[in-house]
Amino acid sequence: MPWYHHTSIYQIYPRSFYDSNGDGIGDIQGIIQKLDYIKSIGYESIWCSPFFKSPQQDFGYDVSDYCDIAPEYGTLADAQQLIDETHRRGMKIVFDMVMNHTSVEHPWFKKDAAKQNDADYYIWRDKPNNWKSMTGGSGWQYSPERKQYYWASFLPFQPDLNYRNPEVKKAMLDNVRFWLRRGVDGFRLDIFNVIYKDSLLRDNPFSWKAIPDEKNPNGFFQQFKYTINQPESMAFAKELRNVCNEFGDRILLGEVSGNRKIIRKFSGEEKNDGLGLVFNFEMLRFKFKAKYFDELVRNIETDFPEPFMPVYVFSNHDRRRSIKRLKDDTQKAKLLHLFQLTVRGVPCMYYGEEIGMTDARIPFKKGLDPIAQKMKKYPRFIFDLAGETPNRDELRTPMQWNDSANAGFSSAGKTWLPVNKDFISVNVDAEQKNTGSLLNYIQHILKIRNSNEAFTKGSLELIPQKELPGNVLGYKRKYGPSEFTVLLNLSTKDKAVTLNAKTIQVPAISGVILSSNGKIQ
Ligand code: NOJ
Repeated sequence: MPWYHHTSIYQIYPRSFYDSNGDGIGDIQGIIQKLDYIKSIGYESIWCSPFFKSPQQDFGYDVSDYCDIAPEYGTLADAQQLIDETHRRGMKIVFDMVMNHTSVEHPWFKKDAAKQNDADYYIWRDKPNNWKSMTGGSGWQYSPERKQYYWASFLPFQPDLNYRNPEVKKAMLDNVRFWLRRGVDGFRLDIFNVIYKDSLLRDNPFSWKAIPDEKNPNGFFQQFKYTINQPESMAFAKELRNVCNEFGDRILLGEVSGNRKIIRKFSGEEKNDGLGLVFNFEMLRFKFKAKYFDELVRNIETDFPEPFMPVYVFSNHDRRRSIKRLKDDTQKAKLLHLFQLTVRGVPCMYYGEEIGMTDARIPFKKGLDPIAQKMKKYPRFIFDLAGETPNRDELRTPMQWNDSANAGFSSAGKTWLPVNKDFISVNVDAEQKNTGSLLNYIQHILKIRNSNEAFTKGSLELIPQKELPGNVLGYKRKYGPSEFTVLLNLSTKDKAVTLNAKTIQVPAISGVILSSNGKIQ
């Protein structure tokens, strides 16, 4: 099994993690200073959202130079030091590659707009077709300089690259190799499933679907038939895997969307020869019910059987924090993480989740996030009703390290986003001192996970729901002679579970891990 199938990932949003130089913005030296903290929780890999050179219109997801670092985050030497320091601690480091699009500030785009490239680096057309962007509205943007429209899958300042031009593919794969050569252990791949568009730019068919969702990206009354999940994108996944293979076992974790059968194609079709890991975002909108998790695991085990490995993720830098969906209930958050860390899959946790950091409420009309800017014409209550936030600032607030000014994140007078008000009680320092805290709980479960291969490499068998009391989830993990049973009581009542003629008491909203010699947690 490759290492990246049994690792655990901690996602860092560099701008908000730790500010080492007092300018109010997190930076690479800040991450280096906190590596020991991440290691102490028990995470084996870190994934850093992008810190490449960028005008920061989408806070790094708009790159203007893939082989340099934005000055507010540091230098190339800092990035190298981060790679080396992570490795020195026996951990792995994953960079975030935004291959689908660049910033409009990228020299490639400037040259294309001036028609100075021999073959187009971007996708141009005299007249837009009917394609909608992933964020709504036409994705075609007019360039007054070139007097043509360019295609942008996400936001107008993020033009999509034209991978049908072999020069583009070569140049981007050279960027990938640039970092692999420097020791990066692989990449999280931004919106990888839109990397190819239909070569004939055919109009997308009509659909009644208004709002895209995790299982079905169609929306805005359009079937994204020609803009998403093209077969060429799946073939490119294999090509990228081969590039990584030049350097040994490297992680490729795809941000893709669609139903499980489609996203599995990015991982590898029959065998694991594609990206190897893909996010399955359906679980970002989880329901705190045993039946929900039972069905989720059952479906995932069907669509991602060994040698595939699923990824379990409940929060990221784009969506509501998981604890917010649990109405800030720490006890429920413990159970959610117990599930995430013991089920068969790679757990991926967003910074701050380990201490129960929740979404701040920031007036979205003032949002720095370009999505908030785009959505501000709509009334906020629509998003509240849908259980989502239109302002990603709310879930990107500075990491809460302690109860001092700026939650110990920065010594600046003003931080780039405000610190959430709850930092006085919700912070690393306080939780390290409190034995019953969420942080100590996650650390404890990670210790169990990291010292038992049944959890990292073992098979999974669900205990049928009909053999369990209502709202209890149960599964077995096995690896060689080692075997564990995990029971999670998601209800507010204590439950008695009888397994093999033995009865186990599981208190309300809590979980137990049983080994063959008894209870270990
Ligand atoms: C997905 C990323 O997760 C998000 O933060 C970003 O805004 C878009 N892709 C565009 O790169």
